[in-house]
Amino acid sequence: MRNWIIGLAAIAAAGGASAEMAGSSIWQGVYSADQAERGATVYAARCAACHGAALNGTGEAPGLVGGEFVSHWDTLTVGDLFDRVRTTMPQNAPQTLTRDEYADVLAYMLKYNGFPQGEKPLDRRSEVLALISITAQKPEGGGK
Ligand code: HEC
Repeated sequence: MRNWIIGLAAIAAAGGASAEMAGSSIWQGVYSADQAERGATVYAARCAACHGAALNGTGEAPGLVGGEFVSHWDTLTVGDLFDRVRTTMPQNAPQTLTRDEYADVLAYMLKYNGFPQGEKPLDRRSEVLALISITAQKPEGGGK
């Protein structure tokens, strides 16, 4: 199940360097537990019908958990993922959630993908989220 982490180790090592430069990594605990819990409710209401209750996809839409999903976002930023979801999802009604709801549902997705939680909730401003690098593997020394 964790094979993808090993497979992406080389790429992640390079991503780790840029994560340190940007000063923030998805491995540093960038969302709060409360936020992820709120996000679970949003997900169930607005995303699960297409992406599956366990985020593993349906015939309608791809999964949002695991190696393939994370590899789509490896070396990009949380801001990229946030804006992608905010501007195109739910696919049948894009931009119909508030920024807070998008941040909450993103926190839930991060939790589901095994990224650690922290004290503070994920910001709802794209420019702040753009400073948080996504890497499939925890960068050496950069994940605190
Ligand atoms: C009506 C069905 C539908 C709903 C509801 C929906 N999605 Fe999607 N989603 C899709 C489809 C189809 C794709 C693949 C096509 C595309 O990329 O636009 C997709 C793609 C995505 C991707 C890109 C996946 C990747 O591998 O990069 C993300 C992230 C995503 N959706 C998140 C969400 C979130 C979060 C919600 C709830 C707020 C949501 N979607 C609601 C149908 C849906």
